[in-house]
Amino acid sequence: MLNGERKIARPLRWGMVGGGRLGQVGYKHRTGALRDNTAYQLVAGAFDIDPERGKDFGINIGVDGNRCYPDYKTMFAEEALREDGVEVVSIATPNGTHYEICKAALGAGLHVICEKPLFFTSEEGEEIKDLAEKKGKIVGVTYGFSGNQMLLQMRAMIEQGKIGEIRVVDLQYTHGFNANDQADKTSDSQKWRVDPKVAGPSFVLGDLSTHTYYMSQLIMPHMKIKKLLCDRQSFVGSRAPLEDNAFVLMRYENGAVGRLWTSSINAGCMDGHRIRIVGSKASLEWWDSKPNELRYEVQGEPIQTLIRAMPYLDESCNADERLGALHQEGLSESWANIYLKFAIAIDAKNRNDEETLKNLVYPDIDAGLDGIRWIENCVRSADNGASWVEFENIKALLV
Ligand code: NAI
Repeated sequence: MLNGERKIARPLRWGMVGGGRLGQVGYKHRTGALRDNTAYQLVAGAFDIDPERGKDFGINIGVDGNRCYPDYKTMFAEEALREDGVEVVSIATPNGTHYEICKAALGAGLHVICEKPLFFTSEEGEEIKDLAEKKGKIVGVTYGFSGNQMLLQMRAMIEQGKIGEIRVVDLQYTHGFNANDQADKTSDSQKWRVDPKVAGPSFVLGDLSTHTYYMSQLIMPHMKIKKLLCDRQSFVGSRAPLEDNAFVLMRYENGAVGRLWTSSINAGCMDGHRIRIVGSKASLEWWDSKPNELRYEVQGEPIQTLIRAMPYLDESCNADERLGALHQEGLSESWANIYLKFAIAIDAKNRNDEETLKNLVYPDIDAGLDGIRWIENCVRSADNGASWVEFENIKALLV
């Protein structure tokens, strides 16, 4: 169980690019990183595309005004001159800026924690992976739901053969918040999501399904997709060519099959994020809206609901426990868990501790690269008339 005690020698000096006053995701980063004040200290930022607003915001969340910079280039240059300059930076800006900011951060000798989808192309991903290796730096990717420890319980149970051979993978990440085009016109956070120049080659495939795809790989690291078929639609026509709905069929190398539905036009749906893994003996099912529960359905037996924090859960799951039984955990704890793992990875990298790095399960650069490939393959299939395409897996698996 985690109780905030230090896991690394001292907190990392942390900065943020983006995630300012009007940003949707910035607070989740701070919630995650600052949950244990033994892991990170927020000491600098270029929080906003608007420098004045960014500085005002930074001061308001307790950052020294002299270290609230007008842009990331100035931040990296000025911080490099300080003995107590930032060591790691998080990038919480729109998709189209991730590549150049990430490259600049690594160039400035910083570890990086970057939002998904990581970049637009796998070439960019490979280039950044090489650069990170050359610089001896970690690149973590904030698949923010993936720190929920019940996913590690699923991973352990599958590994232990509790559901038998996997036959069917059923994934869904849908909501209805973009059932019409109102937010496309009124919300800055939504406008760029339907602009291919800023969002990249996809809308919901990148915005939503990269999370679920990564989580499925976290749960079943041995299951690699052989082929997929994606059919995507823009029900709100002005979003074309970017999709607001997509179906993906998957065929796995071991003969299992899968389907994923991702959508932001699932009208009336407030949070449809679900993972069901069907094996030859039993199934496991987890809903993001009920993160403390995991359904275990053995054929012919009463359905079981496994509850977070109980001693019958796997050690790997309870190791990430924070609040204990009777007290509900959720997205904030999930973010705190992945941020803590990023800190442990960064500390290990700094000490050349390859053993720790090898055994640490967290969304790393390969997970980010795999997410880019997921989008590329889906888009390739959809734009080829929804045809089957060979899935090009990344060489380094997530095990
Ligand atoms: P947003 O549009 O709401 O906020 C972006 C923030 O970045 C704003 O504060 C803006 O002023 C700032 N910004 C933009 N360009 C900048 C620059 N060049 N330098 C400094 N600041 C800059 O976007 P949102 O929704 O917060 O998304 C940001 C990223 O996070 C996207 O890549 C998105 O896919 C991802 N995201 C991830 C989530 C997760 O669960 N991991 C949830 C929501 C978004």
